[in-house]
Amino acid sequence: MTNVVVVGSQWGDEGKGKIVDWLSERADVVVRFQGGHNAGHTLVIDGVSYKLSLLPSGVVRPGKLAVIGNGVVIDPHALIAEMERLAKQGVTVTPESLRIADNATLILSLHRELDGIREDAASNSGTKIGTTRRGIGPAYEDKVGRRAIRVMDLADLDTLPAKVDRLLTHHNALRRGLGEAEVAHAAIMEELSSVAERVLPFMETVWALLDQKRRKGARILFEGAQGTLLDIDHGTYPFVTSSNTVAGQAAAGSGMGPGALGYILGITKAYTTRVGEGPFPTELHDEIGQFLGEKGHEFGTVTGRKRRCGWFDAALVRQSVAVNGITGIALTKLDVLDGLDELKICVGYKLDGEEIDHLPAAQAAQARCEPIYITLEGWKESTVGARSWADLPAQAIKYVRQVEELIGAPVALLSTSPERDDTILVTDPFED
Ligand code: IMP
Repeated sequence: MTNVVVVGSQWGDEGKGKIVDWLSERADVVVRFQGGHNAGHTLVIDGVSYKLSLLPSGVVRPGKLAVIGNGVVIDPHALIAEMERLAKQGVTVTPESLRIADNATLILSLHRELDGIREDAASNSGTKIGTTRRGIGPAYEDKVGRRAIRVMDLADLDTLPAKVDRLLTHHNALRRGLGEAEVAHAAIMEELSSVAERVLPFMETVWALLDQKRRKGARILFEGAQGTLLDIDHGTYPFVTSSNTVAGQAAAGSGMGPGALGYILGITKAYTTRVGEGPFPTELHDEIGQFLGEKGHEFGTVTGRKRRCGWFDAALVRQSVAVNGITGIALTKLDVLDGLDELKICVGYKLDGEEIDHLPAAQAAQARCEPIYITLEGWKESTVGARSWADLPAQAIKYVRQVEELIGAPVALLSTSPERDDTILVTDPFED
């Protein structure tokens, strides 16, 4: 028995929701360790659909403990709204079912506003990132800049005014430069006091709690958000999110030592998608791209934006396998490829006449990379709902084997529809 870390191995939206749901049923504790309410997924439990953004998946399952680690940025308004939405569906979130790290950073309305102001300004100059406008980046900047307001500060109203002062010295200088009105000290104090009472009951020394759980043999599931190619260090910078999304962050973002992380499961879509701006070597601007988008329902859960679609990029996922230390992958949405005459997989790139096997880190070089493809025969049969290898057409099995070989990691789970049971289980990550 081991703990499991789930990460996205592409640009997010790999179908983590279904897999995390499946795993959370087997876990005792489910931990978020990075990102915030820029993530989004839908869980379907006993026919009821729950939309989660900030709360860990375990929160909707009775008897599971959900934990928001220090690596997450928490918008208290979004947190309260999400809990209220769940309450309307009959799920009461209590301190028995949810704990929030005392040292996690808060997203305030000024962060959300700044995210929007910058994106609007960048739209005019053609440099926008295409963020979710949730204030994620600005909140992480304040964390690293050592001026953030953290969950624990809500409990110490005596020292809070000085912290708000420090925060506003920075933000108001920035806002003046951007031609925006300054934010009043009283407004931030009011915002913080208005949420303190709702957030504080969940506050916890998370590293100590996890240490205790681990010693008692609890199964811990670490629920990553976004994907490896959106990682602040390893992603397609600057078109990335502002956190480390790789598996190593499960340790730093929760306070658990890396030796206890266990199985690293990379969720991997059988083709590639991306939301927002940035390089995407295998992007398809033709009818096949449109086919993948429509058949795969490729619209953002949080922003509703249309996702860009393209062929599977094995070179990128191979890099993900390396930087995460992926033990095995969960391959999702294979059924979306049903019916295509032929399928392409990118195995490397041509850059300035040379063949290379990975995407270079420099933005300008990334833009010049041309994918090198291998072509495989498609299959006409439906793979929807397949629950064993015997249910899959030979060409589909060939495709999966080719993916495994090219990325250097085995398939642990193969998902063949949004339904929970439509999964081929090769290895149970908790039992590996
Ligand atoms: P931010 O995280 O809102 O700052 O957005 C930065 C980039 O990450 C943008 O390209 C977003 O579209 C992308 N992004 C953020 N969260 C997700 C997600 O959950 N799925 C896919 N893309 C995301």
